[in-house]
Amino acid sequence: MSKIILTASGKGGVGKSTFSSVVGYALAKRGKKTLLIELDSGLRCLDNHLALSSVITFDLSDALCSRCELIKTIYTCPFCKSLDLIPASFDEKFSPSDHGLPRLLVGLRHYWNYIIVDCPAGVGPEVACAASVADISILVAAPEEISVKDAAKAAKVISENGNSKKRLVINSADKSAVKLYKPNNFDNIIDTVGAKLIGVIPYDRHVHEATTLGKPLNLSSKAGIAFANIAARLDGEERALKFRKF
Ligand SMILES: Nc1ncnc2c1ncn2[C@@H]1O[C@H](COP(=O)(O)OP(=O)(O)OP(=O)(O)O)[C@@H](O)[C@H]1O
Ligand SMILES: [Mg+2]
Repeated sequence: MSKIILTASGKGGVGKSTFSSVVGYALAKRGKKTLLIELDSGLRCLDNHLALSSVITFDLSDALCSRCELIKTIYTCPFCKSLDLIPASFDEKFSPSDHGLPRLLVGLRHYWNYIIVDCPAGVGPEVACAASVADISILVAAPEEISVKDAAKAAKVISENGNSKKRLVINSADKSAVKLYKPNNFDNIIDTVGAKLIGVIPYDRHVHEATTLGKPLNLSSKAGIAFANIAARLDGEERALKFRKF
């Protein structure tokens, strides 16, 4: 049975999709079959991250509306054979939560070790709907006040919809963020969001390059190590949280 991991943030552009694709890749590299499902109708990007954009014909709307065989909506990443994707609907008006998303997720549980559901920005029906079946929710926040406040709001909506196991990822941490939040101490972010910290990912231009160019992130790079550690923790391995010096 899969573990369903939901990725949300409230605020847009803080790294949800990056988290989903790179942690999905890191889990797959650990030998775990992983499926990414992107809910961001009309604004998909995980097909780019996984170098699949030129081959997508069917998407999540086809899966949910039974317009084709389910298998046709599932694409395997060319650089990682254990990593699959159901891309978001091309139609921005399509709402997965109105079309039986929980039923699909529960049905898919039998075939992958992990299913990562990448939510759109905001705290709308997609987040609430995915939370109702998720085993664990990841709140991605940038170390800045608005992002933290919005992640707290997303955490509240997730809890209200039945998912109490939440973890916080602080993304794009750099020198200025650390200065703002005191060296090596993100306690105030953790307290505001109300979720245990599962990792801090540094700002690293290699992340941007990898996702933009549709290439795997080197898991030995600065950010790659942080992503791999989070994947290991999600996969049940004990790894101490260490903060590097910025
Ligand atoms: N740790 C990082 N270091 C450098 N760049 C990063 C990092 N994390 C994310 N980015 C970059 O930030 C941008 C936004 O990331 P991403 O698309 O994952 O955010 P998102 O939260 O999914 O956005 P949206 O709300 O639009 O869905 C991307 O260009 C990505 O490459
Ligand atoms: Mg996204």
